[in-house]
Amino acid sequence: MIQHLSFEYEVYTSSDQLSKEDAFLLQQARSITAQSYAPYSKFHVGAAALLTNGEIITGTNQENASYPVAICAERVLLSALSSRFPGAAVTTMAISFHNQKNNKSRHPISPCGMCRQALVEHQFHFGQTIRLILSGQEGEVYLIKDASSLLPLGFSAEDMQ
Ligand code: THU
Repeated sequence: MIQHLSFEYEVYTSSDQLSKEDAFLLQQARSITAQSYAPYSKFHVGAAALLTNGEIITGTNQENASYPVAICAERVLLSALSSRFPGAAVTTMAISFHNQKNNKSRHPISPCGMCRQALVEHQFHFGQTIRLILSGQEGEVYLIKDASSLLPLGFSAEDMQ
């Protein structure tokens, strides 16, 4: 027997096609890339999330001379969230980036595997689906309705029952 897994995502040619709320969140992610600490990779990632309490929280990647110590923007955001707004959950997260070679990044990036796992844990913890808005500093935008669709057959607390 062969099983097939597939998922759908929406593609927009620019942020102009998003709702006002989504476009604003993406703008926050795009601009917060300036606060990333990425002297080693020079790959500056920014994340901005709308929470169930209506607040917006941001995060940027934080690197370290001891490379494995680095933390991605998405997980910096999730850690800050639990101390600043305990009990609030992410409803939508926008992720953007820029790098030195290509300050005008034009294509979306997608969360790394470790961040996908962290996003799924957050969804499980709060029973709240996370929408993702992915885009560079300009150009195409991907909209993913459920972050867990990026981690098919992922491991979660349910597997430990
Ligand atoms: N990075 C993120 O912050 N988020 C991702 O989803 C992918 C990668 C960071 C980690 C590292 O500081 C730099 O980008 C290059 O991998």
